[in-house]
Amino acid sequence: MTQNMNHLRVFLCPLFVLFCILTIIPSVYGRKLHRSCNKHHTSYGDSCNSTTIFDILCFGAKANGVSDDSKKLLAAWNGACKVDGGTLQIPSNHKFLIKPVTLQGPCMARVVLQIDGTLLAPSKIGSWSKSNLFQWLNFKWVQNVTIQGSGTIDGQGYNWWAPMKSKHTLDIKPTGLRFYASEDIVVRDIMIKNSPQVHLKFDNCGGVKVNNVTVSAPGNSPNTDGIHLQNTRDVEIMHSNIGTGDDCVSIQTGCSNVHIHHINCGPGHGISLGGLGKDKSIACVSDVLVEDSNIQNTLYGARIKTWQGGKGLVKNITFSNIQVANVNFPIVINQYYCDKSICKNQTGSVAIKEVNFDKISGSYTTQPIHLACSKEIPCTDVDLSDIQLKPTRRPLEGYQLQQALCYNSYGNSKGELVPSSLNYCLEKGGGGSIHQISRSYNELC
Ligand SMILES: *[C@@H]1O[C@H](CO)[C@@H](O)[C@H](O)[C@H]1NC(C)=O
Ligand SMILES: *[C@@H]1O[C@H](CO)[C@@H](O)[C@H](O)[C@H]1NC(C)=O
Ligand SMILES: *[C@@H]1O[C@H](CO)[C@@H](O)[C@H](O)[C@H]1NC(C)=O
Ligand SMILES: *[C@@H]1O[C@H](CO)[C@@H](O)[C@H](O)[C@H]1NC(C)=O
Ligand SMILES: *[C@@H]1O[C@H](CO)[C@@H](O)[C@H](O)[C@H]1NC(C)=O
Repeated sequence: MTQNMNHLRVFLCPLFVLFCILTIIPSVYGRKLHRSCNKHHTSYGDSCNSTTIFDILCFGAKANGVSDDSKKLLAAWNGACKVDGGTLQIPSNHKFLIKPVTLQGPCMARVVLQIDGTLLAPSKIGSWSKSNLFQWLNFKWVQNVTIQGSGTIDGQGYNWWAPMKSKHTLDIKPTGLRFYASEDIVVRDIMIKNSPQVHLKFDNCGGVKVNNVTVSAPGNSPNTDGIHLQNTRDVEIMHSNIGTGDDCVSIQTGCSNVHIHHINCGPGHGISLGGLGKDKSIACVSDVLVEDSNIQNTLYGARIKTWQGGKGLVKNITFSNIQVANVNFPIVINQYYCDKSICKNQTGSVAIKEVNFDKISGSYTTQPIHLACSKEIPCTDVDLSDIQLKPTRRPLEGYQLQQALCYNSYGNSKGELVPSSLNYCLEKGGGGSIHQISRSYNELC
């Protein structure tokens, strides 16, 4: 009897194993097999047999926020990337410590990264590899990727914010979440917080939608831009709360067709274009519309900044229907941008034309408007319409109320302007020579 059973086992088990290999491996190609033939898989749940949902827990993630789960994340990504309609799932109520990783495409089809739990960056600077300080979660060459969910991407950046004691880290601090050379990207609903430096960066991308996200870091954390765009076109950023230690949204060279609306910005440095033209570089930014947003308790509001000595052109930029509260400098064009106390004066400048500041109202703490355009190449077609800015009662410590400033800035004032000095701020016309200069700069872009 016993012998018969043994014979039966000897006979059946290899068959069963073969059956498992033939059925399971093809269906979850590229994914680690955690389910063996002995039915111990229930601890991973039934979702682990899905051919489209790649739950990081099914790949053996420890999910304790302490053990390194990077390889598990990569394995789940590789699975989701290889199937049609793959979802990489970061389940709720779990924390995953992830070291810097690159999630690379192209993938077979669209991929969803469903983040309901928390991804944590290493908090100790020493546990970052010195050769990879540029970013933490890096998406490269992906198309049609959506990041969504009620979870959090936590850069745990506080150790990076303190002044550096040792020199080896130079000025490089990692960006939190970055997309490089990618198309048709959606980031929605999630929270991104406490990045060592920039929180969400799009570099060389096209077709970007950011919707209903929260980006958060302390107001005194250095260089922690919320969303940073460079060489990126066709962007919509909307219905989001962004408060950090630097720009809420920063738009750099090579960006065009950017629409930002329904943003709550603050604390931070407001919504900025630039600094453009650093080290005599060529910068081109066009067709940016920022509207229907609130900016509060920030250093700047709507700002364009360029370095002296650059080339190129900024054109067709509109800031419309922006409510400011407690903003030091709500409206700024600064063509003398400098990150030290004194920078050398240089010839040449990124040209700026067709800028509308429309329906901007609320309270400022230092100066209602500051348009410091280049001495050689004036700003042209700058329009101010319906501006209503009143000083807050208490100027911030160390700042005194200043009069509106417009230097070498040509354009038209329309509607009611408060303070009334804004009516005399812009110079009229601009003359043929200015347009000629600006045309020649146009050709660079
Ligand atoms: C996964 O397993 C459950 C129950 O074990 C089953 O009902 C379901 O059909 C399986 N799904 C797939 C995609 O194999
Ligand atoms: C993204 O998906 C849409 C529709 O599913 C498709 O039309 C588009 O070409 C895809 N984009 C890329 C860059 O593959
Ligand atoms: C925005 O995101 C939050 C947090 O994930 C979610 O609860 C809410 O339903 C989202 N709102 C919309 C309109 O999608
Ligand atoms: C200016 O930019 C806006 C917003 O991106 C765009 O809709 C509009 O067509 C642009 N205007 C011109 C004249 O290019
Ligand atoms: C640069 O030029 C401005 C305006 O002409 C002048 O006020 C300023 O002193 C100069 N700065 C330096 C560092 O030369």
